[in-house]
Amino acid sequence: MERYENVFIFDHPLIKHKISILRDKKTGMKEFRELIEEITTIMTYESMRDVELVPVEVETPLETTIQYRIAEDSIAIVPILRAGLGMVNGVHRVFPNAKVGHIGMYRDEETLEPHEYYCKLPEGIENKTVFLIDPMLATGGSACDALNALKKRGCKKIKLMSVIAAPQGVKAVAEAHPDVPVYVSTLDRGLNEHGYILPGLGDAGDRLYGTK
Ligand code: PRP
Ligand code: URA
Repeated sequence: MERYENVFIFDHPLIKHKISILRDKKTGMKEFRELIEEITTIMTYESMRDVELVPVEVETPLETTIQYRIAEDSIAIVPILRAGLGMVNGVHRVFPNAKVGHIGMYRDEETLEPHEYYCKLPEGIENKTVFLIDPMLATGGSACDALNALKKRGCKKIKLMSVIAAPQGVKAVAEAHPDVPVYVSTLDRGLNEHGYILPGLGDAGDRLYGTK
């Protein structure tokens, strides 16, 4: 796959270990959900490296010092429904006060075209750093449309975080949204004729919520 400056693929042993369990079809719903959260938390550390800090004065027991904090209310999380919901707690674990917006998208199973069916975002989102989250980046259609929806509503600083991506999805997002950093924990081989990632992990929404 071509290299894109805005795409960051994690190559961390801990993530590899957890992804190997996540992929296993014998892994049950509870463990699957926990692993998605844990992987998201690890990814959040890395993807927050360039988040803006503001100086604050802190009194330690010994003296006053200037320290740095993430500006209050400067971060929002937007999961793409349904499967993105499984990642929310993983971000909240390290950033519990982040407000959450929701974008509902489903892929037409025949055409693989994404359709937006819901969008509710926190007030003032246009001034926040937005973490758009979805565990699967397959054709990239859902992520591209969700990014368009956020940009249409004024969001200027968006990061996309996905657990597993296919090269087709990475290319689609990187080329349509070169301004958006894309964080992917693992890059898979490709897609099958139904748009599923190979080797992948199957249908993330179904595995998170036990719907199949
Ligand atoms: C899955 C996944 C992504 C999308 C990825 O959602 O969670 O949103 O497919 O595919 P794409 O990159 O080809 O657009 P799905 O449409 O299955 O809905 P669900 O989360 O409600 O199961
Ligand atoms: N959506 C999923 O849940 N899994 C895939 O492999 C592709 C899209």
